Amino acid sequence: MLRAILSRYCGASPDQLAIRRTSDGKPVLSDYPSIRFNLTHSHGRALIAVARDREVGVDLEQVRREVDVVRLARRFLSERDLTCIEGGDPAQRHERFLKAWVAREAVFKADGRGMTFPLDRDYLELTGDGTEGCLVLGSAGSDEKRRRVHFLSLSSGWIGAVAAEGTDWTVTVCNVSESQINRGT
Ligand SMILES: CC(C)(COP(=O)(O)OP(=O)(O)OC[C@H]1O[C@@H](n2cnc3c(N)ncnc32)[C@H](O)[C@@H]1OP(=O)(O)O)[C@@H](O)C(=O)NCCC(=O)NCCS
Repeated sequence: MLRAILSRYCGASPDQLAIRRTSDGKPVLSDYPSIRFNLTHSHGRALIAVARDREVGVDLEQVRREVDVVRLARRFLSERDLTCIEGGDPAQRHERFLKAWVAREAVFKADGRGMTFPLDRDYLELTGDGTEGCLVLGSAGSDEKRRRVHFLSLSSGWIGAVAAEGTDWTVTVCNVSESQINRGT
């Protein structure tokens, strides 16, 4: 399916595409350097993000109510994230925790380094109606300090985010059905 999708952007047939990995494991299309992509999969679902001329990262997580997210936030995330997760409606705590988590994964996957610990130097700043955010990187130089993140509107119980370089981008979502996957179209 990844090949079928990428082939539309590259204008090559799916089986001709050479997908290689960087030394940190990020898959890349080295023959089509302007086409950047990233993928995530979880419990039978997947998201594939494709961008032109800018690095992109994507992450998807399923909400698991049995997980003690306040404990995890205390252990791994920053004070500011913890304050946000603990504050507000307790029924939305898991969603707030996962937004802080997927924002990091999406940004770090866009950078190609994958999830890099420690995670407590950075924090998520949500903007507007909560579909947009900025991951503020404590360790980065001032140019790169704020990284834009877009939260996807997914079915209930799922949280996903896309991050890309710069701020002048929009996200277009395409759903791919199981029959399209089976046909490879
Ligand atoms: C990449 C990583 C974030 C994946 O996290 P995950 O939540 O388990 O899995 P996801 O479904 O979201 O993403 C998996 C996909 O990310 C992509 N990926 C792998 N390494 C990547 C990297 N360095 N940068 C961007 N994308 C990467 C791959 O396409 C992978 O799927 P595939 O192996 O089927 O091709 C994680 O494995 C990682 O950080 N690895 C590198 C660093 C590491 O091992 N740290 C350990 C710290 S305890």
